[in-house]
Amino acid sequence: MEVWRIRGGKRLEGECTVQGSKNASLPILAASLLCPGTVELRRVPRLRDVDAALQILRHLGCRAEQRGDRVYINASGLSQCSIPHALMEQMRSSVIFMGALLARCGEAGLSLPGGCQLGKRPIDLHLAALRTLGADIEEQDGEIRCRPAKLHGGTIQLPFPSVGATENAMLAACAARGETLIRGAAREPEIQALQQALRTMGAEITGAGTDTVRISGFHPKSHVCIRIPPDRIAAATLACACAGTGGKICLKGTDPQQFSTVLYFLNQAGCDIITQNDRVTVCSDGKLRAVGQIATAPYPGFPTDAQPVLMAALLKAEGESVFTENIFESRYRQVPQLRKLGARIQVSGREARVQGVSQLHGALLDATDLRGGAAMILAGLMAEGETRVRDEGHVTRGYENFDGCLRTLGADLLLTHEGEKHGLSVQISQAIR
Ligand code: UD1
Repeated sequence: MEVWRIRGGKRLEGECTVQGSKNASLPILAASLLCPGTVELRRVPRLRDVDAALQILRHLGCRAEQRGDRVYINASGLSQCSIPHALMEQMRSSVIFMGALLARCGEAGLSLPGGCQLGKRPIDLHLAALRTLGADIEEQDGEIRCRPAKLHGGTIQLPFPSVGATENAMLAACAARGETLIRGAAREPEIQALQQALRTMGAEITGAGTDTVRISGFHPKSHVCIRIPPDRIAAATLACACAGTGGKICLKGTDPQQFSTVLYFLNQAGCDIITQNDRVTVCSDGKLRAVGQIATAPYPGFPTDAQPVLMAALLKAEGESVFTENIFESRYRQVPQLRKLGARIQVSGREARVQGVSQLHGALLDATDLRGGAAMILAGLMAEGETRVRDEGHVTRGYENFDGCLRTLGADLLLTHEGEKHGLSVQISQAIR
């Protein structure tokens, strides 16, 4: 069990380089199956989800290793086209291997993916998209079997711009004969990053960032090097941390445009935001005002992944902020935990009303999911006294060296590992990376 021990009340000051994007890395790791030679990825964050993807690649017979922020994959020795449940359940993104395996082997066997519990997370759109390309898929008791089939191009119409379904369709379409159009595609920056990576690998693909992606061919290159873009949600999280605690931080190596909706609300709440090329400076006196209505939506709308961390930043803002969660049905799991700190939040269906309080006080919390856990840590930084967040590894799935990064900015927190050994409770401070 990981425990985040936080002594709140410190302002954040200083500079910090934003990690590479988790949600861009994972589909690109899956895409590396399409390359016959070595794929070198740069700026890959060191995360549990990245480890899980590397384990899947190794299980499939690939060479895959991470050295610092670089990952090297060689898929020439691929010997398997199915992934056992124990690997699939480690993260949601394992489902993206379906499209990549179909492209590489024409068949695939896997089970329903794991990941954060944010309500129902079906994969019907993924399956329908792949079937349009000729995949022969059978689903029974959580097991998915794609029998050998020749893929062909086609027009996929997504009824909702699902990020994962768009990624799976893009990957499978690379091996399809003829042209594929994905209409109603997700427009997230991670889709653009995947397009860029596939192009580098030899795909003829255009349209990412619009609602129609076109894939018309693939001439694999044997050695490629791809740089992972910055993580817009990690950047948004640090910006929200500073907004909530007060202080002045500069985020380096980021793309402010990609989380401009979050910066917009922080500015509405009273923060000064200065963007300059790949830098964002956030300046907050810690006395925020409520921002009215915030509704999550597919990109370029307000990201659902930033909803919990913006909520944390606004817990002490004067007035009422109202969140509407439109992407996932159960994404307020952080709320009962935040209430333990004294937060006033009322949830009714998709809506959460946050009434700012003048002070939060430390408490013992349990992380519920990745972004919810990050929100609890932020709220702990804003609270008086000590907050402990018990976490079964949710936050380290998505944030690289989160504690070290916050400490660099002046926060007082420590990530410890607590467990039972010979009946004794032991506590081991995590080595600072
Ligand atoms: C991705 C991101 C996640 C982010 C989400 C929305 C990764 C690893 N994860 O998740 O961090 O929160 O986009 O921006 O990149 N849906 C269906 N059927 C499907 C697929 C999705 O009904 O087959 C629904 C989901 O239940 C959900 C909505 O569509 O309500 C959004 O899902 P989707 O865009 O697919 O999100 P993910 O790809 O899972």
